[in-house]
Formats: sequence, C-alpha cells, structure tokens
Amino acid sequence: MLTDEKQRHPFLQGLSKHRGAPPTVVVIFGASGDLTARKLAPAIYNLSLDNLLPPEFHLIGYGRKEMADDAFRRAVAESVGTFSRREFNSDIWERVGRNTVYHHGGYDERPAFDRLRERIDVIEKDLGREVQALFYISTPPSVFKPILENLGASGLARRHQHTPFASKVVIEKPFGSDLDSARDLNRVITQQFEERQVYRIDHYLGKETVQDLLVQRFANTIFEPLWNRRYVECVQITVAEDLGVGSRGGYYEQSGAMRDMVQNHTMQLLSLIAMEPPVSLDPEGIRDEKVKLLKAIQPVSVDESKPDVVRAQYTEGLVGGRKVPGYVDEDGVADDSSTETYTALRLNINNWRWAGVPFYMRSGKRMARRVSEIAVQFKRPPGILFSDAERFDLASNTMVIQIQPDEGTTLLLNSKIPGLETRTQPVKMHFRYRTTYGSNTPEAYERLILDAMVGDSTLFIRGDETEASWRLITPILESWRNLGRRGMEGYVAGSWGPLASERLLWDNRHEWRRAGP
Ligand SMILES: NC(=O)c1ccc[n+]([C@@H]2O[C@H](COP(=O)([O-])OP(=O)(O)OC[C@H]3O[C@@H](n4cnc5c(N)ncnc54)[C@H](OP(=O)(O)O)[C@@H]3O)[C@@H](O)[C@H]2O)c1
Repeated sequence: MLTDEKQRHPFLQGLSKHRGAPPTVVVIFGASGDLTARKLAPAIYNLSLDNLLPPEFHLIGYGRKEMADDAFRRAVAESVGTFSRREFNSDIWERVGRNTVYHHGGYDERPAFDRLRERIDVIEKDLGREVQALFYISTPPSVFKPILENLGASGLARRHQHTPFASKVVIEKPFGSDLDSARDLNRVITQQFEERQVYRIDHYLGKETVQDLLVQRFANTIFEPLWNRRYVECVQITVAEDLGVGSRGGYYEQSGAMRDMVQNHTMQLLSLIAMEPPVSLDPEGIRDEKVKLLKAIQPVSVDESKPDVVRAQYTEGLVGGRKVPGYVDEDGVADDSSTETYTALRLNINNWRWAGVPFYMRSGKRMARRVSEIAVQFKRPPGILFSDAERFDLASNTMVIQIQPDEGTTLLLNSKIPGLETRTQPVKMHFRYRTTYGSNTPEAYERLILDAMVGDSTLFIRGDETEASWRLITPILESWRNLGRRGMEGYVAGSWGPLASERLLWDNRHEWRRAGP
C-alpha cells in the first residue's frame, strides 16, 4: 500500500530518499562552546546510533582554547552523556570517538587553517579515497567572517570543488543583524564558496512539525482547496517563551525579539504556511517559493498613528507562582534599555491567494506559556441556521499546527451537544506526534547535520531568502532605533503581551487566540 502511495506521490518519494553520505570530516569551529555540547555532539552521536554516519567519519574540534585530543574526546563524550535524547552507549560512541581530534588555532590565524588542511589531507591519504570536508561554524557571529576568509585563503573552501566531495560550510544564526550586514556576509561567503556549498541554519526547519507543514499542506487534498482568501479569515503565528533572559541579558540587549526570533523562525513558519505549492521537493523548488512569498509581503507600516507593529518589554510579574524581575532589572540590561522582549506584527501578503487576509505574528519572552504554533482561522459560515447566540456557541474553524512543545495538529470544529435540545459547542480533534509516533523523534540538529552531509539544502536558508526577510524587518528596526524608548509598551511577566498587541487585531475584529493545545 505504502509503495503504491509513494509511486503516486512525488512528495513521499522525496521524503524517503537514500541518505548515504560520502566519507566525511566534520570540523566544528567553536567546539568548546555551548551549542556543540548541547546539540551538535549529541546529534552526531544519535546519527551514529542510527547508522546514519558514513563508515569513514572523522570529527575535528577547532578552537582557541588549548586542549589535548583526549581531553576533547572526553568532553564530547560527557556532553553526549548529559544531553543526548537517548542513553549513552560507549560502544556506539567509540565509533565516533576513535576518529575525534582537537585542532588548536585562532579564527583569524591563517597558518592554523593551513595546518587544518594538511590534517584533512592526511586523513584522506590514509583512507585512500576522497573525503568531503564539512565546516560547521558554531562561534559567535563576530568571527564568522575571518573563518570564512581563512577557509578561502587556505584552499579549504575549494577542496574537490565541482565533485561530489566538494567542501560544505554550515553557518549558525544570527545571519547578520540587518539587511546591510546580511548582504555583507553573503558577499564574503560567495567570494569563497558557491551557493550550493553553503548551509545557513535555522534550526526551526529541522523540527519534525515544521517539515510536516509541507506534507500536511500538499499530501492531503482536504486543506489546499481552502488555503486562500476565500476561506481563510486570518493566520496567527505565535513563538512564545516563558523564560526571561536569565544570565544572557548582555547578549540579548544587542538582539531583541525581532532579530532573535521573528526575522528567522517566525518568517520561516510564515513562508512555509503561505507559499505556493513548489514544482518539486527539490531544494530550489521549495526555496524559490519561499522567496517569492517573502517578496510579496507588503512593507510594514511604522507610522506612529497606525503602526502594523508593536514592541514591548516585560515588567515584574509572577511566573509559575514565583516572582520574577522586569527586563530592565535583569543582569546586564541597561535601566533605559530600548531592546524589545516582545513584538507583534500585522502583515499583508500582496498575491492572488492571500490578498486581504491578515497574517499576525508575535514572539516574546516571559509570556504565559512556552508554545510555538501556527493557527489558520477559517471564515465563519453565514449566520442563517445557527444565529441564536444563547443556544449556539460557535467558534471559527481553526487548524492549529503546534510546533513545540507537544507537537501535533488540532482542528477546531463545532458540534452538537448530545441531548434533546439542539445546542452547540466548539470541540477539538487532536493529532499528537507523541501518541501516534512515540516521543523519541530525532532532534532538529540530527536532521540538519545529516542533510548537510548528504548535500540536501532544502531545510537551509538560501542567501536571497535571508536578504528578503531582512529587507522587511530592517526598516522597523531603524524606526525603533530613531524612536529610542518612545512607543515601548510594557507587559506583565507571565501574560500574553501588551494591550497594544490586541489593538493590532481589533481593526479587523480579530483577537489573539489563547495559544496552546
Ligand atoms: N547555544 C545555543 O543553544 C544556540 C542556539 C542557536 C544558535 N546558536 C548559535 O550558535 C553559535 C555558537 O553558539 P554557542 O552558544 O556555542 O556560543 P559560545 O559558547 O559563546 O561560543 C562558542 C565558542 O566560540 C569561541 N568564542 C566565544 N566567544 C568568542 C569571541 N568573542 N571571539 C572568538 N571566539 C569566541 C569559544 O571557543 P574558543 O575560545 O575555544 O575558541 C566558544 O567556546 C552562535 O552563533 C549562536 O548564536 C547557539
């Protein structure tokens, strides 16, 4: 049955493609850091556990810190033990551990890159066959450029170029801090690498539910006919965290909710939920459609009399019964900070499918609950048969795709309450990953590292996509910079955001849904 289905559906064929990667050396820049410990090392271990690493797999940790190979191996094994979603098994780890070494060097130190090249050449010579090098840049963005330049100058970027063993580079977020810096970074990258060698990470794209967006939309016939301005009332995207900035106040001051969450994660969710069907599941087919969608978004009004965007900072409040400080009282945050911890936007998409349908997006810290979801709210039926509000409690049909936590999809329907009288109430149909597939699904970084190794860039951001997103966001950031703190709203920690964000929806007689299952 499944085989027949796969033959009929090109999408399903695409999803089951062969995942074999060529012999690979993964070099992690910033290997002593937090991301390597919490995500990258556990992801590599879990790929090994699932036999998805090539048999000839080598790992080189690169960093400024002095460290012996053994010490690095122990540190990586310890991180796996602490953070892996599955139990640490020393035999499985040994497959990776025996080929794991540490390379000491600065990020702007050319000779260290020359030595790295020699090291990779030795691995290749010992193996007696070609090896691809995958460079994972997991450092703070301040050193992205020197690393890229040295990969170019040392010849590492062009190793085996135009062959299946061409070098690849994975770049962590944030990708620039505005349109100019993103363009500048793209320029440096394309001086050293061809676009098909480049993998810009947005780890949201590695999440199962985000990948499932394409399957739910295009492998089912019941939704797509309704997915347009005739049937959809509005779309609401929420990426909410309940945590505050904690000890990272200094870092967050340079970032804010718009840069940290909206420019990347929420814009990715928006483009996947709203884009046109791609001609195929090929990376370029999907990424072309995402870029087209981003380009169709109308510029956001920052006019103070009728803005399409709101920003706010959390104030002191209660979270989980515990009193928490306001943003400006957090460590590392200036008393007169103008960094937003919350933002909400109202967007219009100027294309045939979506003209007139508002897309609302919000993201914030210290909100009522940690939840990321997309809610597609359909139009109400004409009020002819069930107009008596006393008896008929009707809700708009809404499809809610919950990205995290408790991944799944919920459909909100209206139903008759059993009884002799006709009364109605909204009910929910749930599909939960946990109950259908069990809870141990791969982490985003497993999928992304594997995809980069096999050369599938579908779940990575193309250069023009980063720029299209920044083109929309940068004028908002510039206007905020000019305003300083003027117009900055407040919201109580543990709430759903400021009143001003409700007002964004009132013009259209909409209201934010209470996000969550
Ligand atoms: N941590 C996360 O959960 C997370 C999530 C999403 C994205 N990211 C992104 O992933 C990248 C790495 O994050 P991370 O949390 O692992 O960073 P990190 O721990 O602050 O830094 C990683 C490594 O980079 C080197 N480094 C730190 N500060 C540096 C500086 N000012 N100049 C040069 N080198 C420096 C250090 O290694 P050496 O001193 O040994 O060279 C450090 O161990 C960042 O771009 C971040 O935005 C992280």
